[in-house]
Amino acid sequence: MSSRLPGFYKATIAERRALLAAAAGVPLEAFAAVDPSALELAVADGMIENVVGTYALPFAVAVNFTVDGRDVVIPMAVEEPSIVAAASNAARMCRPAGFVTKVSAPVMIGQIQITHVADVDAGVTKVMAAAGELVETARTMMPRMAERGGGPQALDVRKLADSGPDGGVLVAHLHVDCRDAMGANLVNTLCEALADRVAAIAGGRPGLRILSNLTDGRMVTVRCAIPHAQLGGKDPSSVGDIEGADVAAAIAAASRFAELDPYRATTHNKGIMNGIDAVLVATGQDWRAVEAGAHAYACKQGTYRPLAVWRDEGGALVGELVMPLAVGTVGGALLSHPSAKLALAIGGIEHADRLTSLAAAAGLATNLAALRALATEGIQKGHMALHARKLARMVKETP
Ligand code: MEV
Repeated sequence: MSSRLPGFYKATIAERRALLAAAAGVPLEAFAAVDPSALELAVADGMIENVVGTYALPFAVAVNFTVDGRDVVIPMAVEEPSIVAAASNAARMCRPAGFVTKVSAPVMIGQIQITHVADVDAGVTKVMAAAGELVETARTMMPRMAERGGGPQALDVRKLADSGPDGGVLVAHLHVDCRDAMGANLVNTLCEALADRVAAIAGGRPGLRILSNLTDGRMVTVRCAIPHAQLGGKDPSSVGDIEGADVAAAIAAASRFAELDPYRATTHNKGIMNGIDAVLVATGQDWRAVEAGAHAYACKQGTYRPLAVWRDEGGALVGELVMPLAVGTVGGALLSHPSAKLALAIGGIEHADRLTSLAAAAGLATNLAALRALATEGIQKGHMALHARKLARMVKETP
């Protein structure tokens, strides 16, 4: 398939569905899953508590993406104007090479806290000595996952406190390869099952048993390189043509600003999460988990840093995003939400690692688009054009 769908943005919704059905190989009838009434009240009532209705968001696709050598249209659900257009424009600039990703094994961390340990150093040593046995026990609880190459992989232990209100405290980390699942339920189940045994070995009391959202065992790296020639063009503020080399230099300077200043890094990362969250929402993911992990990871060096950086190298602007990203293509909202299932079909997403790659590529794309706008004409011009479009529509539709 080609993700280049010229004029897509000018088409009607019915025309876009037809174009997308042909491009993504999804039957036209399947788009009922993103009709306003697609999520039935009875289904919603089964998803969360105290339901009184459903809440709709615009569902769109970003076009022009090539990710790991394959063209793809990326589903997005988001309320903010200009994110989808920004992602599509940036993806066009990145063609033909597109985005290249590296996704780690999907290893999640489950934490087992042990409190009131009389001798924490001895407790750590004893639990470490029993790590093999504990992992084996955990593996027998997940035989199907282990057969698929996943399941519990390792266990390590850290001292947290020698003494204090909770006595001596240590934490065991169980590392679990969750394959295509996000893995929260699976990891929590394992931690709950192992906690009494770990506490007995350590000589303490079991405390919390829960996964960590700092999923630094489940990482993605995405890179793109845009030749200067593709970065230049007309400056809409009519100052004249902008040279690609100047744009690249300005974007690299914007990146350094974020690298020097946490106030800017926060907004820089917000621009990345604009793309990522839109994909996560469309595909029914726990976006709060990814947000929590992203920002904790951004602070890992002791100060808040940008998740993506840009360099002007050898006639090209090179961007790289590195972050933890835990998603699943089985379980969770995908069990019940019709729109999320359609989103996976539109994106041709069969496994969690492909979803990770697409979400990360979308994040690097929205970051690039934001920096390009900020470093040239300013963000308001493009934003205001899209806001004007929205206002014009609202006026037209007011009876
Ligand atoms: C707005 O949603 C996102 C930006 O603020 C991101 C950025 O400043 O890089 C434009």
